[in-house]
Amino acid sequence: MVRILGFLVGLAFAGVLLISLGNTASTYFASPPEPTAEEEFHEHPRPLHLASDGPLGKFDKQQLQRGFQVYKEVCAACHGMSLVAFRDLEKLGYSEAEVKAIANQWQTEVPSLNPETGEPATRKAIASDRFPSPYPNELAARAANNNALPPDLSLIAKSREGGAAYIHSLLTGYSNQPAELLKKFPAAKTPANLHYNRYFPNLNLAMPPPLSSEGQVVYADGTKSTVDQMATDVSAFLVWAAEPNLERRHAAGLAVVLFLLIGTILGYLAYRNIWAEAKRKVRVTGALEPENQAKSRSSKRKAGIAG
Ligand code: HEC
Repeated sequence: MVRILGFLVGLAFAGVLLISLGNTASTYFASPPEPTAEEEFHEHPRPLHLASDGPLGKFDKQQLQRGFQVYKEVCAACHGMSLVAFRDLEKLGYSEAEVKAIANQWQTEVPSLNPETGEPATRKAIASDRFPSPYPNELAARAANNNALPPDLSLIAKSREGGAAYIHSLLTGYSNQPAELLKKFPAAKTPANLHYNRYFPNLNLAMPPPLSSEGQVVYADGTKSTVDQMATDVSAFLVWAAEPNLERRHAAGLAVVLFLLIGTILGYLAYRNIWAEAKRKVRVTGALEPENQAKSRSSKRKAGIAG
C-alpha cells in the first residue's frame, strides 16, 4: 500500500514537472527571445600570428622591446602590472644599467613611508619594484575613468578569451556605431563617455582608443609605428608579461615528448623480447595439422600422410 502511494506521489511530481516544461517550451517557441545588439554585432578577434605561437614558438625580443615601449609610453598612464618587476626586463635584452634607468625615470612613483615621520609617501622606483599602478587605489582609478577600473595587465593575455589576438583586435577595433545597428536597436546607442568597439563583449567600453594615430610612439629601432604595428607589439609584450617562462616551457615540453617517444620505442622492443617465446607461432603440419587429423585413415593414406 505504502509503495503504491509513493509511486502515485512520484507520478504526480513527474507530471507537474512535465507540464511546467511544456509551458516553458511553448512560450519560448510562441515568443522567442528578442535578439540583442551584442549577439548580432559582437565579433570574434581576428587571428594574430606572433613568433611565440605554437609548440616551438620563441619570443622576438626586438618586438617585445617595442611592445614595452608602447606599454611605457601609452598604457602605463592607466594600467599597472603588479606581477612584473622592472628587473624582469633584462630578459628582453635590456642591460642592468638600462633597467635601473628605466625604473628611476618611471612616470609613477612607488608608494612608501616617510622614514622620519611614518607618513605615507612615494619614492622613485628601483629595479626590484613591480610596475606600479598610476592610481593610489581602486576608488581613485574609478574616479579617473568614469567609474570603470583599468585592469592590471600582468595576466591580461591569459585572462581574456583569445589572448593576444583579442588585445590586438580590441586596440584596433574602435569605430563609429554602424548605422544598421542604430536602426535595428535604437536603445543600444553608445552612452556618453563610452566607446564603441565591436570586439568588446558588450560593444561599449570605458577605455578611450589608446592607439589612435600613426607615429604615436617613436620606436627606438626605427620600425614604422602604424596603429596595427603598435597594437601587435604591445600584444606580444603582454603575452611575455603573462608567461615569461614560455620558451623554457616549450623546450621542456619538447624534451618530455622526445623522452616519452624513446621510452615507448624501448618499451615496445622490450615487450617483443620478453614475450617472444610465449607468443611464438607454431604451425603444425603433416599428421598433426587439425585438418589432417579429421581425415579418415584411407584418405590420409591417399594424400600420403603418415599415421
Ligand atoms: C586613459 C586610460 C587608459 C589607457 C591609456 C589605456 N587603457 Fe586600457 N583600459 C582603460 C579602462 C578604463 C579599462 C576598463 C574598460 C571597461 O571595463 O569598460 C581598460 C581596459 C583594458 C583592457 C581589458 C578589456 C576587457 O576585455 O576587459 C585591456 C586588454 C586594455 N585596457 C589594454 C590596454 C592597452 C594594451 C593599452 C595601451 C596601448 C591601454 N589599455 C591603455 C583605460 C586605459
